[in-house]
Amino acid sequence: MPSVKKIGVLTGGGDAPGLNAVIRAVVKAASNNGVGVLGLEDSFDGLIYPEKSRPLTPRDVTGILRLGGTVLGTVNRGNPFHSPITTPDGTFDYAARVMDMFARVGLDALVCIGGDGTLAISYEFSKMGIPLVGVPKTIDNDIVGTNSSFGFDSAVSFATEALDRLHTTAEAHRRIMVVEVMGRYAGWIALHAGVAGGADVILIPEIPYDLERVARCIRDRDAWGARFSIVVVAEGARPKGGEVSVIEKAQGSHPERLGGAGMQVAKALEALTGKETRYVVLGHLQRGGAPTAFDRTLATRFGGKAVELLLEGRFGVMVANHPPDIVPVPLEDVVGRTRTVPLDCDLVHTARALGVSFGD
Ligand code: F6P
Repeated sequence: MPSVKKIGVLTGGGDAPGLNAVIRAVVKAASNNGVGVLGLEDSFDGLIYPEKSRPLTPRDVTGILRLGGTVLGTVNRGNPFHSPITTPDGTFDYAARVMDMFARVGLDALVCIGGDGTLAISYEFSKMGIPLVGVPKTIDNDIVGTNSSFGFDSAVSFATEALDRLHTTAEAHRRIMVVEVMGRYAGWIALHAGVAGGADVILIPEIPYDLERVARCIRDRDAWGARFSIVVVAEGARPKGGEVSVIEKAQGSHPERLGGAGMQVAKALEALTGKETRYVVLGHLQRGGAPTAFDRTLATRFGGKAVELLLEGRFGVMVANHPPDIVPVPLEDVVGRTRTVPLDCDLVHTARALGVSFGD
């Protein structure tokens, strides 16, 4: 087993609160074990362009625990394996360049912090021989193999606060307020924020909706005197027999951009109920800002565990939250799959019991 003396760390995909907490934990845990760390900027680009990497010492990561974003930068422009890469040194096959640079800069292993896309790319490099450990990141909470990924709690907390604020104005004007939250393929943010924020309707990608049923729920509320309603819509929610709302088509390996689901639902509900309706898109506000205490702790545990696994020579795995432990799971069991909301899960069941409509 090769001994690990120098590791690279990178962040890929859309950012999520807690990325810096992982970087900090990796650098501190590595340094305390006599291992050097090279920070790779803009995901795997840090192994393509020599100027996009820099040594990271504990001094460099002091104070970043509570910061959103990532001090290393990130990209989410799809799968780099699909196209060759041009640098001042010439044009290269992307994967070959990464493998070459990994050896040239003297790395022994990588910590790859990212979502499904970055973990899939990491798995490919792992199969090609790079010793690495993945760390799951996404506000959408849709990575399989782990109970939760950091970023999710921060996004849910923000969305819940937004719902609290919208409640007062919705009630004052007796309006319907529609709130669009992120969640392309999975409705975890909508479900958790919706329940925590007392939403009356929660529309998620896993349950195609019928707006007549949603309108009925709103009329029922009016009938017993509520006279306002809060509707949470995941960006990936779609009507029964219909399609998701897309604002930009997929291009190459870059997936389509979603948007407009909240607006569509708001317009239709206004027409169906005759009630004044407004909509709000929380968008990237859910990804920005400081991580919650939960996310800082989870991210720190992930970073510490990733270094521990590398030092034990356990590669090709992702650290995962299996309470009360952080455990390794094989990357091959994770990539290419999506962790969606099980329709029979406790939270859906409880929400239904309280009269929340899922539009079905
Ligand atoms: O994967 C997280 C996510 O927040 C999705 O819910 C959303 O569709 C996507 O990122 C948007 O990413 P961007 O606008 O950065 O391309």
